[in-house]
Amino acid sequence: MTLLILNGPNLNLLGTREPGTYGTASLDTIEADLDDSFPSVTFSFDQSNGEGALIDRLHAAHDAGRDGVVFNPGGYTHTSVALRDAVAGIDPPVVEVHLSNVHAREDFRRTSRIAPACVGQISGFGATGYHLGVRALREHNAG
Ligand code: DQA
Repeated sequence: MTLLILNGPNLNLLGTREPGTYGTASLDTIEADLDDSFPSVTFSFDQSNGEGALIDRLHAAHDAGRDGVVFNPGGYTHTSVALRDAVAGIDPPVVEVHLSNVHAREDFRRTSRIAPACVGQISGFGATGYHLGVRALREHNAG
């Protein structure tokens, strides 16, 4: 199984960014941990702060025939019609992941424009959410 783990804006700052909300693990650590935890999965990891670049990465995941995408769209979750359209327009199933529980925070974080185009959303379990996303895609694809 080949999966893309895709992270959006400001997630390159994990480890130092608002650690009380997002934890102390860096994105590099989270990615290395996924590699260690799922030796039978071939991961590609990507992060961008740009909406267009994230759309390109989703299209590339489709073109490469990836089996799924675990996607944390960061702040674009709540605003981006274009990212939702990209998720809706590709074949690989996408799981939306958030480190924090977006439903327990400010009102504007309670709405995801992207989740309706995904197979599901995982929110509030910190870095474990990425692991749950991988497991969810494995079950979904076996389905
Ligand atoms: C986030 C939640 C978003 O609301 C926020 O803008 C982020 C991180 C999360 O992982 O909890 O950048 O996606």
